[in-house]
Amino acid sequence: MENYLDTSGKEGDGDAVSQRGRVVTEDDWLKKWQMRHIGFHNEQEHGLLKKHLDIFLSGRSGLKIFFPLCGKTVEMKWLADMGHHIVGVEISETALKEFFTEQNLSYSEETVPEIPGAKLMKDTSGNISLYCCSIYDLTSSVAGKFDAIWDRGSLVAINPCDRERYANLMLSLMNQKCCYLLVTVSYDPSKHPGPPFYIPDSELKKLFGQRCDIKLLDKTDDLKEPQRAWGLDYFWEVMYLLLLK
Ligand SMILES: C[S@@+](CC[C@H](N)C(=O)[O-])C[C@H]1O[C@@H](n2cnc3c(N)ncnc32)[C@H](O)[C@@H]1O
Repeated sequence: MENYLDTSGKEGDGDAVSQRGRVVTEDDWLKKWQMRHIGFHNEQEHGLLKKHLDIFLSGRSGLKIFFPLCGKTVEMKWLADMGHHIVGVEISETALKEFFTEQNLSYSEETVPEIPGAKLMKDTSGNISLYCCSIYDLTSSVAGKFDAIWDRGSLVAINPCDRERYANLMLSLMNQKCCYLLVTVSYDPSKHPGPPFYIPDSELKKLFGQRCDIKLLDKTDDLKEPQRAWGLDYFWEVMYLLLLK
């Protein structure tokens, strides 16, 4: 499936109106980690990333890859083992400590002079650098620009009112050749408040369309027991490739 997004404007974004005012605070996320409400975490590398890895890497080695809202996602170690340089950002220190422990990596901690209260946690090889702070505190002057971005469980976790700010930040972190793989979810938003939030194509176009070509790369049925328990009868993961124009 290789479609550029439909620009006809036929698809309405009214369907997601029920989620527009929803706010999940940083404290709420910290509590989810504390209470172990982390059903979003997968123990295996994401199937769509594995399937489209060639597109993501485009034959390049030693990439600098960004993981916004990284949690303890296992793809960070997987890609670091291939020789890439990983930078993540995550508000929960618990998540980052669990990442290093579960991946058997020793790490050091340092302060980040540009971001008061933030910590930078680095594995001893120096290939994995994880910032413990809010994504909104990170800028390209602190982290530089990236060759690739893996965004799964990230844009869809951002409060709808903050999406534009998030999208502008991602755009500011992309270098000219950056491959931005974005995974969204598609379901009936009147049945579940989110997160993950439903993001229609029309909204993606509004957020990124001026600066990026957006290509629908793949779509996979991900309806499992948790989504059925939310009352959903369909749930798709949808993967897009964003490239700067
Ligand atoms: C749905 S989880 C996805 C984690 C990871 N991307 C994955 O695929 O497993 C969203 C993560 O974002 C973190 N988070 C939420 N708001 C954040 C913020 N403003 N800055 C940094 N991290 C944040 C949460 O603690 C949580 O670990």
